[in-house]
Amino acid sequence: MATDLHGPVSARSDTAVRVEGLTRSFDGRAVVDGLDLTLRAGEFTALLGRSGCGKSTLLRVLAGLDRDITGTVLVPKRRAVAFQAPRLMPWKRVWRNVLLGLPDKPERAVAERALEEVGLGERAGAWPKTLSGGEAQRASLARALVREPDLLLLDEPFGALDALTRIKAQQLVAELWQRRGCAVLLVTHDVDEALLLADRALVMRDGAIAYGTPVDLDRPRTVGSPEFAALRSRLLTELGVAEDAAPAEAA
Ligand SMILES: Nc1ncnc2c1ncn2[C@@H]1O[C@H](COP(=O)(O)OP(=O)(O)O)[C@@H](O)[C@H]1O
Ligand SMILES: [Mg+2]
Repeated sequence: MATDLHGPVSARSDTAVRVEGLTRSFDGRAVVDGLDLTLRAGEFTALLGRSGCGKSTLLRVLAGLDRDITGTVLVPKRRAVAFQAPRLMPWKRVWRNVLLGLPDKPERAVAERALEEVGLGERAGAWPKTLSGGEAQRASLARALVREPDLLLLDEPFGALDALTRIKAQQLVAELWQRRGCAVLLVTHDVDEALLLADRALVMRDGAIAYGTPVDLDRPRTVGSPEFAALRSRLLTELGVAEDAAPAEAA
């Protein structure tokens, strides 16, 4: 029943991800249901959707962590994923966590370079439990970056951070994306976060991409502009959230 069609996207190098007719069911219920999705190389896409609509399920498929699917999924070989929880092994120092699972046992210096990129160079030798929430999340980002991904998958990576740390982490991801030039798919339930960061915002509903819009706003972006407000209003409507009733953490 599993159709494993993961493979490199080589036919067209301007395409980072191509998904056609993807279906993933749990106990006979299709959570992802005939989903089509194309991501361009180097593009930053935000994926919005109500809690339980299948965002994480889709991300796990794109990451290659779930192959019990039907349909076509073409993704780059070099891909990395970071989740809401940093998922660091407590018994390994930070730099070893960054290198975890990489082939050929790279040297500590490789981890240190990635940690420096996220502003954590000095904590390479620390134990995970001594890191703050924001630092642990940056270590998790370093672990993704060290894989030099063509596709970076982020599943609500800032969801557990306090407001200020979250803003810093968002800025860091924007910088890293601009420097690295990889395609990014950011799952978030925060419309403002999507509009601050992404080239394109998608809304997932009923197991498929129900709505998509380019985010043609100059960077750096501010939440206050009329264009920003118009896009936010439209996306909230697509999410089925009344604007005046929408808290920042609406899910
Ligand atoms: N391993 C699993 N077994 C059974 N049901 C699952 C499993 N993973 C996810 N689901 C169900 O699939 C639906 C979508 O989950 P998920 O992709 O995590 O949603 P989201 O990330 O959008 O909040 C939910 O109803 C969830 O309960
Ligand atoms: Mg999720």
